[in-house]
Amino acid sequence: MTAPRRYHITTFGCQMNKADSERMAGILEDMGFEWVDDPNDANIILYNTCTIRDNAEQKVYSYLGRQAKRKHEQSDLTLIVAGCVAQQEGEALLRRVPELDLVMGPQHANRLQDLLEEVFNGNQVVATEPIHIVEDITKPRRDSTVTAWVNVIYGCNERCTYCVVPNVRGIEQSRTPEAIRAEMEELARQGYKEVTLLGQNIDAYGRDLPGVTESGRHQHTLTDLLYYVHDVPGIERIRFATSHPRYFTDRLIRACAELPKVCEHFHIPFQSGDNDILKAMARGYTQEKYRRIIDKIRECVPDASISADAIVGFPGETEDQFENTLKLVEDIGFDQLNTAAYSPRPGTPAALWENQLSEEVKSDRLQRLNHLVAVKAAERSQRYLGRIEEVLVEDQNPKDKTQVMGRTRGNRLTFFTGDFHQLKGQLVKVKITEARAFSLTGVPLEARTFQPV
Ligand code: SAH
Ligand code: SF4
Ligand code: F3S
Repeated sequence: MTAPRRYHITTFGCQMNKADSERMAGILEDMGFEWVDDPNDANIILYNTCTIRDNAEQKVYSYLGRQAKRKHEQSDLTLIVAGCVAQQEGEALLRRVPELDLVMGPQHANRLQDLLEEVFNGNQVVATEPIHIVEDITKPRRDSTVTAWVNVIYGCNERCTYCVVPNVRGIEQSRTPEAIRAEMEELARQGYKEVTLLGQNIDAYGRDLPGVTESGRHQHTLTDLLYYVHDVPGIERIRFATSHPRYFTDRLIRACAELPKVCEHFHIPFQSGDNDILKAMARGYTQEKYRRIIDKIRECVPDASISADAIVGFPGETEDQFENTLKLVEDIGFDQLNTAAYSPRPGTPAALWENQLSEEVKSDRLQRLNHLVAVKAAERSQRYLGRIEEVLVEDQNPKDKTQVMGRTRGNRLTFFTGDFHQLKGQLVKVKITEARAFSLTGVPLEARTFQPV
């Protein structure tokens, strides 16, 4: 009799990686492997990696080092590196960690079974060549039973001068509206209530699909997709990320205002509040254009929450230019902002420039920006106090089991007292009694129950 074959996946990085990991886990379960929480008990360990900044990449090597050692004692251990570090390093990763069995780029996630079969036949495998991404045929093993990610477009055709994503994720490949809707219908059948449509540059959705309208625009845009999928019965909320200011349209804002299931939350990274830095980043818009987008959103969807990403310490950024970023953050008042110090990445233009800033300057700017972000987010949170918000219950509060947690339509994490098993997946009206910078607490008024379909 053979012992149970167990796998463990550790996922780093963004939502695309999390979605890929869920599909790879589905493939492994289909192959008869069982999930195990402790990697030390696993026969297959898969690291789904991120290389967006140097510290993300280094983290992977430290995890990998530990398991590579273990492999010398346990010869039936299969070690896999998937994701963006795998794509960036390819063969070089095998030279650095010869214990590896499989190195596979993100475009190959759905091919995991084929690749593993090659490994079990005794090969060391590297799969990083660009391919047409195959539709996933396996049922993903999703982390949540309430909310789910649905990829709509893979890759990115932009060339922001700091960014590795186009190198590691390849060119844009949109899924068809039919495939996306079918996945959402299946999710609804399984009881999911919320879907987040995913793409690194989701506004590019459909550009690579055939078909133009009479007025000459692409027939399949993100806006058209929202109209096409919004009425999937059972799916109560739809979100999408990440938006790019260069391609963001008024039509999209109107669709969000019009379609009741599309949540009032926009994630639109601006990266810098200074026009010269934006130009050096090759972002393709000005800070004035960014402000106009936000004004338009607030005009059409007054209560919309706005989040973004920003980088400080880009090569050549002066104190004045950094202050333009602070000014934008001060003026707009983001509900949430992901901030990062610029990290030079291999294979990107900006990494080769000579005007790099010191770590001291970068970390000082990061601290100053983070301080402002927290102050502004706390201010923004105050508007929720005393209000009644709709919260979709996703989980128990891990720190207080008498509470459940979920999100408002605007994406604020919210806690309230309740029994998770009773409330899971329900939309509950909650009166907000406490507002912190990035989360809320409230008391439930009523729960809307759903009949299973
Ligand atoms: N597609 C998204 C972002 C993808 S990467 C967009 O266009 O906005 C996620 C975030 O990581 C970016 O928004 C950026 O803020 C940050 N980032 C990317 N490359 C970086 C680098 N080299 N150094 C620091 N932060 C970086
Ligand atoms: Fe990177 Fe720019 Fe593409 Fe975003 S749009 S993934 S920042 S290259
Ligand atoms: Fe990281 Fe790759 Fe996402 S580099 S941020 S996991 S696309």
